[in-house]
Amino acid sequence: MIFLPVTQESIEKGAHILKNGGLVAFPTETVYGLGADAFNPLALAKIFEVKNRPRFDPLIIHIASINMLENVADLSLLNEHSRYKLFILAEHFWPGPLSIVLPKNKKIPGIATAGLQTAAIRFPDNSAAQKMIFLSTGAVAAPSANLFGSLSPTRAQHVRDSFTDKIDMILDGGQTKIGIESTVIDITGDRIKILRPGGTSKETIEKLLNAHLDYADKIPKPKTVIHDSRQVISDPHSSILNSPGQLKSHYAPKTALSVLSHEEIIKKQFTDEDAKQAFLFFDGQTRDAWQKEQAAFNKNKENPDAPVVKVLSEKGDLLEAASNLFETLHELDACDASHIYAQEVPRHGLGEAINDRLLRASSKPD
Ligand code: TXA
Ligand code: MG
Repeated sequence: MIFLPVTQESIEKGAHILKNGGLVAFPTETVYGLGADAFNPLALAKIFEVKNRPRFDPLIIHIASINMLENVADLSLLNEHSRYKLFILAEHFWPGPLSIVLPKNKKIPGIATAGLQTAAIRFPDNSAAQKMIFLSTGAVAAPSANLFGSLSPTRAQHVRDSFTDKIDMILDGGQTKIGIESTVIDITGDRIKILRPGGTSKETIEKLLNAHLDYADKIPKPKTVIHDSRQVISDPHSSILNSPGQLKSHYAPKTALSVLSHEEIIKKQFTDEDAKQAFLFFDGQTRDAWQKEQAAFNKNKENPDAPVVKVLSEKGDLLEAASNLFETLHELDACDASHIYAQEVPRHGLGEAINDRLLRASSKPD
């Protein structure tokens, strides 16, 4: 496996490997993707193999120019309204963290879309990714470059840790800017549906289109109940899923994780009898309130074992919190804690996507 920083030469090398059916992990503005030529079924199959990804989970097709769109999608199958929405969305949000589900072009093999007649298309906002895609066949299918069900990678090193020599090359472009995956929306029907909340907020899309968007998601909205990874919520494979990224147990750290409301986490006491616990706060204010409570609780104890404490955004900024999410979960996962208690974040803007990932991180299949 070749591990190279972004240069013109390494980008060309990556494109060459892609054209020859190899796998190249590359940075996007959201997370690292594990890329294969979107027109090459054998190369695509390798993605599923190395990721241990179930066949029913379709891949996002990445393009690097609007002109490529008609080679990956069949726009003649869209009605006039949907085509209009597509052009407005593409003009406004591309390049950027929005994947749009469209009727697929016949040239895209079924394995890319897990047998669906639609494909999720995205134009990433990262110049190294754009150049490499442009120099390859122009369309690169890429899921997040992590093993199925585990945390998404925001650094090249995360990719290296998961795949060692199973892939041909990793293009190291440093830490990704947004740190959370793209929003996936379906515009093929009369009403636009959000299949996965992500780096483009529901509100900005609604404002642009002057329309109300539905979540196709069957995942419960964050509630003030504890979601414990040891209580499996349901069999994630049994439900009908519009977008298989909606599996409840997705993006999961190895450590058990519970999502707590603001009120619950402040009152959550760490117990020094237990193995080490970890606390993940949304903002500094909540952490401070929690620390005050702990001081009162532990005042008669000699030497309580300190838990690991992390904050997603000291000043409570959702954008910053989103970009730190996977990074911080990776860190917490590596610190040998027995349990992670994570604070639910405000339910607007990118908060929807963060809560969604936290809830998925809180349930694991058997
Ligand atoms: O930010 C991102 O989107 C990253 C970077 C690498 O671009 N990619 C990513 O891909 O997150 P992946 O494969 O991990 O997630 C793709 C999501 C899944 O939830 C999948 O089910 C959904 O997109 N998806 C893909 N094609 C679809 C389709 N035709 N219909 C419905 N959902 C689709
Ligand atoms: Mg993924």
